[in-house]
Amino acid sequence: MAYNLLKGKRGIISGALDENSIAWKVAEKAHEEGATFVLTNAPIAMRMGEINKLAEKTGSQIIPADATSVDDLTKLFTESQEILGGKIDFVLHSIGMSLNIRKKLPYTDLNYEFYQKGLDVSALSFHKMLAVAHKLDAINEWGSVVALTYMAAQRTYPFYTDMADIKAMLESIARSFGYHYGTQKKVRINTVSQSPTKTTAGNGIKGFGDFFDYADAIAPLGNASAEDCANYCITLFSDLTKMVTMQNLFHDGGYSTTGVSMEVLNKMGIEG
Ligand SMILES: NC(=O)c1ccc[n+]([C@@H]2O[C@H](COP(=O)([O-])OP(=O)(O)OC[C@H]3O[C@@H](n4cnc5c(N)ncnc54)[C@H](O)[C@@H]3O)[C@@H](O)[C@H]2O)c1
Repeated sequence: MAYNLLKGKRGIISGALDENSIAWKVAEKAHEEGATFVLTNAPIAMRMGEINKLAEKTGSQIIPADATSVDDLTKLFTESQEILGGKIDFVLHSIGMSLNIRKKLPYTDLNYEFYQKGLDVSALSFHKMLAVAHKLDAINEWGSVVALTYMAAQRTYPFYTDMADIKAMLESIARSFGYHYGTQKKVRINTVSQSPTKTTAGNGIKGFGDFFDYADAIAPLGNASAEDCANYCITLFSDLTKMVTMQNLFHDGGYSTTGVSMEVLNKMGIEG
């Protein structure tokens, strides 16, 4: 059911790679809720061509942009305003990539070139996006920017290796930029800390399937799906959450505040 929560709002949605992507679901929901937006992804990700289906379905245009390139991001924000006919009201940063995870390198023996690449793609890109938007004064007052993150920024998950540190930086950028953008332009910036989700990025993590089941067994409500995450992002883009900024918001079915569940204890043969 749609509520017209984003009626008249203009957005930029990054990171829709295929229909499993969290960003894909956000775009579908934003369209249902009355928004118009531009889709963006790394030029290399366009090769799959899947994003064209989403663009067609949501009546959107696509602007390729490598999120590590300030030039690409400047073009993205400039052209998006031209296409959409005004300043931007919401932005989704849904970008993550770790070569150390891809190559299955242990945290104690990381490749630092990979580490820096991961930092640039997954965290600095958020600062770059915000700095470009700020410089161009491209976001309307009370506009809302959301980046997706994971709880490994607060608690240790051995298999998440360098992305844990990178997500901690991403969340810090939301707070730091949120202060400056908030005081100057009333733009709000938050991170959403999402449950494990079966996407290309998620499935690339060693042992992800087992961990997905474990998290599902701990969370009182079970894991939040990509679609649930999209719904939550829509509320954050809407005016109903106008005073929420500089927060890391857990969207995980209660996982982050549960110590242990009876389901997990029972699986270990412990009777409650
Ligand atoms: N899947 C999970 O379990 C999970 C959990 C919590 C948070 N997240 C976060 O959600 C976000 C989206 O990931 P997803 O799970 O939907 O996976 P996904 O693989 O569908 O999306 C990741 C996107 O990042 C894009 N990307 C990579 N390098 C880029 C670059 N240089 N410039 C622009 N875009 C680039 C990819 O093309 C892809 O579209 C990521 O930040 C991820 O860390 C995912």
